[in-house]
Amino acid sequence: MNLLPPTASEWAQRLDLLNGYVFGWLLFFTVIIFLGVFVFAIAYRRRSPDERPKPILGSIPLEALWAFVPLMIGLSMFAWGAQLYFDYASPPVAATEMFVTGRQWMFWTQHPEGVREINELHVPLGRPVKLTMSSEDVIHSFFIPAFRIKHDLVPGRYTSMWFTPTRTGKFRLFCAEYCGTQHSGMIGWVYVLDPPEFEAWLAGGASESLAEQGQALFARLGCSSCHNLQGQGRCPNLRGVYGTTEKLQDGTAVLVDDSYVRNSILNPGAQVVAGFQNIMPSYQGQLSEQNILQLIAYVRSLGAQTARPGAAPAGGQAGGVGLPDQTGAEPNLQDDRFRRLRAPR
Ligand code: CUA
Repeated sequence: MNLLPPTASEWAQRLDLLNGYVFGWLLFFTVIIFLGVFVFAIAYRRRSPDERPKPILGSIPLEALWAFVPLMIGLSMFAWGAQLYFDYASPPVAATEMFVTGRQWMFWTQHPEGVREINELHVPLGRPVKLTMSSEDVIHSFFIPAFRIKHDLVPGRYTSMWFTPTRTGKFRLFCAEYCGTQHSGMIGWVYVLDPPEFEAWLAGGASESLAEQGQALFARLGCSSCHNLQGQGRCPNLRGVYGTTEKLQDGTAVLVDDSYVRNSILNPGAQVVAGFQNIMPSYQGQLSEQNILQLIAYVRSLGAQTARPGAAPAGGQAGGVGLPDQTGAEPNLQDDRFRRLRAPR
């Protein structure tokens, strides 16, 4: 009988090791405490009704020792866990970015090359993959037990996580957040393929990349009449802005990332670039999450060369450009202050 799901990612190995460490200490202390209770209850039992115990004056060194040793053990768990958490929160720059959109009751997954899947995700073996995730309705949670990863899909903002598959095969995918009557049916499969096999699978998919789909949508919506890509229009020229920091009307600055592009499409008046008027209508309710991803990929393909060093050149596939959440309550672990804590891979 298997107590644990299969081990198919680097997280799985690292997390199981940490779990084993914590569980090992747990077992150790459980045994010595219960053994101690049992042995002392017999050794120091009252032997006659008028027996009085000798007073104990205590020992400072002994008490310091049994406070200090467990403290160190507790801190070692904390340090180990924190290290894992920081690694989890900072995807490597070389990671391939894929997108997941949740909807009652299915997962849509999207590759930058244009291929879309429903309730399935194909990933290459041994290569880091970063998932940028959102939801069209309620909160869902993307859970792959064999990878030991679980992360919420939250409507209205992007969340992200990453993993490196270490075993080929077919692994279960679940929604792990109660999201309505058919929540239990919101399940699927993750396929880990050898890289050549994965490339072949990818090549048999879409004819247009996500960025090309975005370019077509950009033209269809007439965005280019204001966002002139050849020179200065009535709205900012989007060429080369992705990954840079823009000055805003209110004097603050913002990093042009997925979240900012998304907010600018849905709520253009919120963060207007300095020197421009807010003349853009909101596209709230007119674009699907999928459409927004296409537009983001297009804007990124116009400006990926200016993104952080190490990101892939143009083409909408630049992986690993940070995704600071500007909207939510979660601590922003993509922030540079946190990123500095670990060297880029
Ligand atoms: Cu989606 Cu539960």
